[in-house]
Amino acid sequence: MKAFIVTRYGKKEKLHLTEIAEPVVNETDMLVQVYAAGVNLLDVKLRNGEFKMVLPYKPPFTVGHDVSGVVTKVGSKVSKFKVGDEVYARPADHRIGSFAAFISMNEKDAAAKPVNLSMVEAASIPLVGLTAWQALVEKAGLKKGQKVFIQAGSGGVGTFAIQLAKHLGATVATTTSTANIEWVKSLGADIVIDYKNEDFETILKEYDVVLNSQDTKTLEKSLRVLKSGGKLISISGPPDPGFAKELGSSWLVQLIMRLLSYRIRKKANRLSINYSFLFMRANGHQLREITSLIEAGIIRPVVDKVFPFEATNEAMAYVEQGRAKGKVVVRMR
Ligand SMILES: NC(=O)c1ccc[n+]([C@@H]2O[C@H](COP(=O)([O-])OP(=O)(O)OC[C@H]3O[C@@H](n4cnc5c(N)ncnc54)[C@H](OP(=O)(O)O)[C@@H]3O)[C@@H](O)[C@H]2O)c1
Repeated sequence: MKAFIVTRYGKKEKLHLTEIAEPVVNETDMLVQVYAAGVNLLDVKLRNGEFKMVLPYKPPFTVGHDVSGVVTKVGSKVSKFKVGDEVYARPADHRIGSFAAFISMNEKDAAAKPVNLSMVEAASIPLVGLTAWQALVEKAGLKKGQKVFIQAGSGGVGTFAIQLAKHLGATVATTTSTANIEWVKSLGADIVIDYKNEDFETILKEYDVVLNSQDTKTLEKSLRVLKSGGKLISISGPPDPGFAKELGSSWLVQLIMRLLSYRIRKKANRLSINYSFLFMRANGHQLREITSLIEAGIIRPVVDKVFPFEATNEAMAYVEQGRAKGKVVVRMR
């Protein structure tokens, strides 16, 4: 089958379109014919080699973390899906590879595709949707009446997280550049800060939760908009010891992560703020909850650009620029 693979790690490396064997389908797996694949910065960072320590994929390997498509084969123990079902998923780490004609995944990582979405729209959802869910519902326990600051409201995670936080009843502040302000408000944000001309630190006070997706400077400034007892959840690092443990990393990797996050954890402790790093995980159960919100019209997909499969490298380059308004998707069929 056709697949875009990483043959060598590197920022200047391109994915190579090649023929590889169809993936193996184990007892609890299903084979999905890929109709569309969402593109994430994680795909770019993996290709660059930035995740070698935590996700040691050995080239050659196929990238692509988001998929929508049709089930074409099921393992003997698959009970939730059958051949012909339309599904979407963020397959588990070490089972990735949606920039291909087919992908095999454990059935527990998938959910039925929302009936009101096209394949392209569905492929835009899983990774960012699960990230927002695991940050705001699972980690933050965000409640009605609380205040949350979601950075980069116009990005893939931001566009989803704003809608989810509004649904949970929170007041939502976000950042974006001048041109996107009105558009981000239309997603539900209550307070929109133009990060090119304003400093969020002087505007936001006593927040319950910050979802940080930017650099170290922004992370440290975020501490100062939180109230005592607030939660700072970062999806852009630095990783904390809890994450290293979750991964089952060696003592050396655990030590490195402890050191990497030492400074922010110390500063957070001093202000009685809880700092944690989130690296999202595959979760079909949570994806089903997301499906319900989408089918109820509470959350809508935001797709910026769609590229043909052959232009997967161009899609990666577009995402890498960091200017996407919502999601970028590659269409196979
Ligand atoms: N740990 C995890 O599980 C996890 C999961 C998903 C994503 N992430 C990480 O989270 C980050 C965001 O991911 P994403 O997919 O949402 O990215 P994205 O879609 O590529 O973000 C692009 C958006 O970011 C905005 N932006 C850029 N610089 C900004 C700044 N300084 N302040 C506010 N907005 C800014 C841009 O708006 P303008 O064009 O208006 O500047 C653009 O709309 C990435 O680092 C990604 O790797 C981590």
